[in-house]
Amino acid sequence: MADNYLEKKYEEFKNSKKVVVKRTNPSLDTLLIKNRSTRGYLKEHVVRVDELEKIVRVNTQIASGRNQQVLRFRLVTKGVEAEKVVGCVRMGSALKDITLPLPGTEPEAFIVACLQKGKEEDRIVDVDLGISLQSMLLKAVEMGLNGLVIMAFNKEKLKDAIMLENEPLAVLAIGKGIEKFQLLQISEGDDHTYYRKEGIHYIPKVKLEDLLIH
Ligand SMILES: Cc1cc2nc3c(=O)[nH]c(=O)nc-3n(C[C@H](O)[C@H](O)[C@H](O)COP(=O)(O)O)c2cc1C
Repeated sequence: MADNYLEKKYEEFKNSKKVVVKRTNPSLDTLLIKNRSTRGYLKEHVVRVDELEKIVRVNTQIASGRNQQVLRFRLVTKGVEAEKVVGCVRMGSALKDITLPLPGTEPEAFIVACLQKGKEEDRIVDVDLGISLQSMLLKAVEMGLNGLVIMAFNKEKLKDAIMLENEPLAVLAIGKGIEKFQLLQISEGDDHTYYRKEGIHYIPKVKLEDLLIH
């Protein structure tokens, strides 16, 4: 009895010396700040199909107009198909003096958000699309990845490139980003164009006071 007591006390003492590392989940603000449109990726980091599936899984948990859930997703991982997708999209067209992606920094994984066969795109579907894309980006950021919504793409070329029968609505590039970002607070009348200077990508955001209607 006494032995057991001492043993127990010793165990308690040993355990009390263990360093407890508490992992706190990132706040929504942290995820939002980290969730920057990324157009340059680390080649060494190969995104796996199960990671893309984990990202797409958010679509089983989000809102959908009339709960229609007409979005479908085609996954593309590193390989010939991914190279073809890069040839179908336009990235960072506001940056006039550089063509993105820079060679060697191309995204190699994509989630192509499509319409379920036989369904029509409408306002509600487009809102669903926005909710879906942002939710997937936030999930990617939570997983230590980055992404980019791409709406400027050649639909027919993309369909041919990856033998897609569904109508593609948006392309989400996913990877481990290598870019540096800085948000800038602006007024509604200021220039909204993003730009790059000395290796930093600056993104102007309209300040709260100007977003509120009085
Ligand atoms: C609906 C939508 C479509 C977009 N299409 C493209 C695109 O085709 N190519 C691109 O490089 N970026 C695209 N972007 C990224 C925007 O340029 C980006 O969100 C904006 O510059 C602000 O940067 P931030 O996302 O880091 O805040 C798109 C973003 C959204 C929400």
